[in-house]
Amino acid sequence: MRLDYLTIFPDYLAPLRLSLPGKAVESGLLELHVHDLRSWTTDKHRTVDDTPYGGGAGMVMKPEPFGAAFDALEIEPGDTIVFTTPSGERFDQRVAEDLATRSRLVFACGRYEGIDQRVIDHARTRAEAREISLGDYVLNGGEVAALAITEAVVRLLPGFMGNAASLVEESHAAGGLLEYPVFTKPPTWDDRSVPDVLRSGDHGAIARWRHEQARRRTAERRPDLLAPSALADGTPIERAVPGDAGELMTLQRACWVQEAVANPGAPIPAFAESLDDVRAWLGEWDTYVVRRAGRLVGAVRGRLEPDGTTWDIGRVMVAPDVQGQGLGRALLEHVQAAAPAAATSYTLFTGAGSDRNQRIYKKAGFRLRTDLPAPPGAVVLVKQRSHA
Ligand code: ADE
Repeated sequence: MRLDYLTIFPDYLAPLRLSLPGKAVESGLLELHVHDLRSWTTDKHRTVDDTPYGGGAGMVMKPEPFGAAFDALEIEPGDTIVFTTPSGERFDQRVAEDLATRSRLVFACGRYEGIDQRVIDHARTRAEAREISLGDYVLNGGEVAALAITEAVVRLLPGFMGNAASLVEESHAAGGLLEYPVFTKPPTWDDRSVPDVLRSGDHGAIARWRHEQARRRTAERRPDLLAPSALADGTPIERAVPGDAGELMTLQRACWVQEAVANPGAPIPAFAESLDDVRAWLGEWDTYVVRRAGRLVGAVRGRLEPDGTTWDIGRVMVAPDVQGQGLGRALLEHVQAAAPAAATSYTLFTGAGSDRNQRIYKKAGFRLRTDLPAPPGAVVLVKQRSHA
């Protein structure tokens, strides 16, 4: 990957050569070029800013030096120009993953009140242009943002990190949760002991403990990350609460009347389960629900199996009157995304006679596994997780 930086403070970007990217430069994985924007000025004072049209406080960065720099750097359609600005899209791990797929990033670091809008419009005609903000606060300039974005992007490049697994397990990776607490030796320090489970050698128990800790931490510190994703029409997918038990049971019964017809003779748990049973499994499973007009119309649940690597998905349920609108597919996608980082495969059961369900699951990438045990009247479907 080639990285260019346009700045009026080239020294600000010196840490690029000291930190992790420094090593990647030596190994040839990265090419770094820091450019002084003032080298593309033409006046004696090397002016890069001027007063804003329409009045107002502060100064605006002039267009000509940027235009000349883009020419000199031979920006091409496959390149991506990143304007660091507090009014850009918010930077996060998804944006980092996206930028890591580019072959060349050109950072244009804004200062003062920003860059003349025509520079951004012009950049869009030559290459991909992204306006990116580090967060909801104002820095003195875009250089620190360019450094932070660089570090987040570069460590995702294949071959950059020694241990690719650490990319999967860390905070903000695919599972969408903050990372669980970590411990190292000694086992007791300052009268504080490492949790027993981590020293148990039981990998399944460790994975479940870590997932639970990550969930708890995320709920406390960043509830917005647990906040549900939404259906295409904006209807949220929410985490179920104990008070949903009654409606969940009603939804199950409605859905499983259909299942009983499709799978004659197969035991259908909804008809045997009590409200207390539903409350009990609500405590053990990550359950997600969709409400329309205050009524619970869809649900799905997932939990990590004792092996610590299989994410068990169950009870994709959609009320009969709203079936065929993509709700089941959205719930299935949601519960897969909610799996902890340790999960390497998804598994689910459906009725052996439920052709429609099996079609839906196969379309979502699940494969029928006749070699694996299934309850009477049911089949098991499995999908490998791809940590894309
Ligand atoms: N320049 C000034 N503030 C910024 C921010 N929050 N993100 C990116 N660039 C900036």
